[in-house]
Amino acid sequence: MNYIGSKLSLLEFLEESINKVVDKNCRVFCDLFAGTGVVGSYFKKKGYKIIANDIQYYSFVLNKQYIENHEPLKFQKLTQVLPELKNIVVDKRKNFVCDHLSNLRGLKGFIFKNYCLGGTKNQKFQRQYFSDENGMRSDAIRIEIEKWKKEKLINLNEFYFLLATLIETIDKSANTASVYGAFLKQLKKTAQKLFVLKPAQLIINDQEHQVFNEDINKLANRVKGDILYLDPPYNHRQYATNYHLLETIAKYDNPEIYGKTGLREYEKQKSFYCSKVEVKKAFTDLILNARMKYIFLSYNNEGLMTLDDIKKIMSLRGKYGYFTKEYNRFKADRDKNRYFKASKTVEYLHYVVCN
Ligand SMILES: C[S@@+](CC[C@H](N)C(=O)[O-])C[C@H]1O[C@@H](n2cnc3c(N)ncnc32)[C@H](O)[C@@H]1O
Repeated sequence: MNYIGSKLSLLEFLEESINKVVDKNCRVFCDLFAGTGVVGSYFKKKGYKIIANDIQYYSFVLNKQYIENHEPLKFQKLTQVLPELKNIVVDKRKNFVCDHLSNLRGLKGFIFKNYCLGGTKNQKFQRQYFSDENGMRSDAIRIEIEKWKKEKLINLNEFYFLLATLIETIDKSANTASVYGAFLKQLKKTAQKLFVLKPAQLIINDQEHQVFNEDINKLANRVKGDILYLDPPYNHRQYATNYHLLETIAKYDNPEIYGKTGLREYEKQKSFYCSKVEVKKAFTDLILNARMKYIFLSYNNEGLMTLDDIKKIMSLRGKYGYFTKEYNRFKADRDKNRYFKASKTVEYLHYVVCN
């Protein structure tokens, strides 16, 4: 997923740097600003037990799938309504279920009625985040997944797998430049194509993992691990507003929405890490409360905290150091209304070896 601050292209840098600092006995890796879950997934594949967390519910869903799901999904109960499943080997069942959902007849549900042109044409605000067909298809799939869950035809592991698959697939069909802060006037090519669910990758291993959906500062002293990896927002852009539609598809809770973009209320998801006034206090509390052997922080040279702030705060816990890497700016940071001198930024990985 194309996500602000995604570390997909920095995974090797993170691993190489972390390995230069930590001892051989580290088993528990905590990714507590987890976003898409790519960092946790990478270290899960390396054999760590992962604890993941994010304040956004769509991110929680993605991490429930990529991190916590670690065994094959059998869709045993679903055979009651899809008997053909019995003849399919377990490994292939998730593909069959996704194909079945992709072929459902579209429904005029919350997404179509509020975020598609066909559904909003007589309303105060016309919106076109998805084509009408894709909006109706996502409503039909989301409603069916919820029904299966309620009727106990799928278990929670299967539920999160299907929901994560829907979130990632629909995101690729969104009619936006990159985030959900605005939609495009004309349907772009990728938004015109009728989407087909692409099953999310299942990372099988024999470890139990844990995923939370909390404000990190409230969670920090309740989890214990060896390595804490922190990847907070770097600037004032709130994830709750930039990804509000994914939140609504994930929760499907018929929220009250407002304005041109159909934002949902997000007071409880406003992040202190996006506020110049609040960030240093929040970060200091977090660093002081973390029950870990090592703490790593990804941040760049244009973030709300200065390098000096970070050094001072992290040094409160022990020996501080950092690694750097030049990095290409995120696509949405390069839009024509904003002017940046450099198309590259310097990405820092700060660390402290806790006393
Ligand atoms: C830079 S992104 C993480 C990207 C992630 N490492 C990846 O590669 O996909 C920052 C994440 O922190 C989450 N976040 C912001 N404030 C938070 C808070 N107070 N507690 C927990 N999560 C928070 C956001 O929802 C967002 O997903």
